Amino acid sequence: MNDYKVEILIPEKKVLKRVNDLSKEITKYYKDSKKLVVVGLLRGSFMFIADLVRQLSVPVEVDFITVSSYGSEMTSSGNVKIIKDLDGDINGYDVLLVEDIVDTGQTLEAVMDILETRLPNSIKICALLNKEVRRINKIQADWVGFEIPDEFVVGYGIDFDQRNRNLPYIGKVVK
Ligand code: IMP
Ligand code: MG
Repeated sequence: MNDYKVEILIPEKKVLKRVNDLSKEITKYYKDSKKLVVVGLLRGSFMFIADLVRQLSVPVEVDFITVSSYGSEMTSSGNVKIIKDLDGDINGYDVLLVEDIVDTGQTLEAVMDILETRLPNSIKICALLNKEVRRINKIQADWVGFEIPDEFVVGYGIDFDQRNRNLPYIGKVVK
């Protein structure tokens, strides 16, 4: 597990600037929303959510959901289960689902299906990173921080087997 290196892909300053810009766009979009809830997909989105929500200047609630993840594997199983559900009811809410990375799209598709059964007023997706070439369905985030190539990335909340979440930048794993 120690035989890899991390190279900087997106430096901290660039990440924070982009997140700040996303917050401005999202604030504008939801300026008339009566009930907005930001739903973070744990654990990978925790740092992104904190920075994103800090800069939102509309009334907003924050909730989290945890679904099964890759474990120590580097590929998606496509088998998504709820591990920790939302604490609150989203019926009638404008939901902004926040994810770290859209890869195959299977996680988001499954979570969208689950959330839609709870009758929110609307659901939009904000993803920090998008690996477009890996997509196997029609899932598209409404806001994307950065388009990235097909590399395994870590940092800014994102892990490789639970490590490297604390890095303040986005790095790529190099064997
Ligand atoms: P998807 O279901 O294939 O779209 O996978 C999305 C999930 O896989 C994300 O929430 C991440 O947790 C994880 N993931 C995808 N690519 C990476 C990566 O490069 N590094 C770490 N986790 C990743
Ligand atoms: Mg994840």
